[in-house]
Amino acid sequence: MDSTNSTNGSAGASSRFEEIMRGFRERSQTALDSKKVYELRKMYLDSKAGIVSSLMKQMRSIPAAEKAEYGRQVNQLKTWILDNLASMDQKAREEELRARYESEKIDITIPGKKILRGNLHPDTQVRNQMIDAFAGMGFEIYEGAEIENDYYNFTALNTPKDHPARDMQDTFYLSNDFLLRTQTSSGQIHVMESHKPPIKILSPGRVFRSDDDATHSPMFSQMEGLVVDRGITLCDLQGMLDEFVQKLFGAGTRTRLRPSYFPFTEPSVEVDVSCFQCGGKGCRLCKGTGWIEILGAGVVNRKVLENCGIDSDVYSGFAFGIGIERVAMLKYGINNIKLLFESDLRTLGQIND
Ligand code: PHE
Repeated sequence: MDSTNSTNGSAGASSRFEEIMRGFRERSQTALDSKKVYELRKMYLDSKAGIVSSLMKQMRSIPAAEKAEYGRQVNQLKTWILDNLASMDQKAREEELRARYESEKIDITIPGKKILRGNLHPDTQVRNQMIDAFAGMGFEIYEGAEIENDYYNFTALNTPKDHPARDMQDTFYLSNDFLLRTQTSSGQIHVMESHKPPIKILSPGRVFRSDDDATHSPMFSQMEGLVVDRGITLCDLQGMLDEFVQKLFGAGTRTRLRPSYFPFTEPSVEVDVSCFQCGGKGCRLCKGTGWIEILGAGVVNRKVLENCGIDSDVYSGFAFGIGIERVAMLKYGINNIKLLFESDLRTLGQIND
């Protein structure tokens, strides 16, 4: 290689160094953030492609006598660049930190936002309380379907066509074959068709009836209970209900069974609880009677067991159905069922057991 080449001789080298320093100074004017400083470091000091490294590589073409001086100058340049980069980097980082603190500054004097705490819907609260009470007695949950056919909602429950009991519940028909279930009792049939006794289930769910006033809504919820096993009697029903109402309405609540009629139970009963407001003395809630009707129940009609292929000479059972909104209204003093369905948080937010 031509040793007189101006970039190679030591005079040429020093002007080359000055040029590099000038270039570096110029570039450092705009390297104001740590990313740009990093790029500059790569540009000058990268071990392969860096400008300073390429100076080192040129050592080969330096005359032997000048090699030492050349090397010293390259190292000096390198140290100079390193020092500069270090102080630029420090400045850039300080600036970045300052900007970050500025942008993340928190004004602790701004008044806090009010956190609105949600609560479960009263229906859900009551349903959960009922499930809790029965789950402790070994019941399992079965969730039936809201769309049923005539067989499951009526016929299998011993309510054949033209049976007067059908008038008790005005039905929404979806078609000739399908209807919206009027009672969770339809679930009893599905359970007994698919499970052998012993059976012990709770079935909460929505039901539908063409009925609409302050205490009735076309859509409401029930909780069905069904127990089938050997030797089940009405006494078992009352025993479990006694425990249930104490959990739901408080210790000391008693039950009273009155004869009633449902086609799928025989005998059938209407169950009252002693008024949990006045303790039985008589008040507005219990209309002076000391008792409040809360559910329908009875011993499962033999015909219903047989409809489901269960031998009614071996097995017997009891069933009950309770209205969830009705209990919520009684417990929380709600006088219109619509309040439970209007989703007005001012109302619903007040009810939190
Ligand atoms: N299904 C009845 C109703 O909706 C309640 C009930 C359930 C009665 C189970 C007896 C046994 O009124």
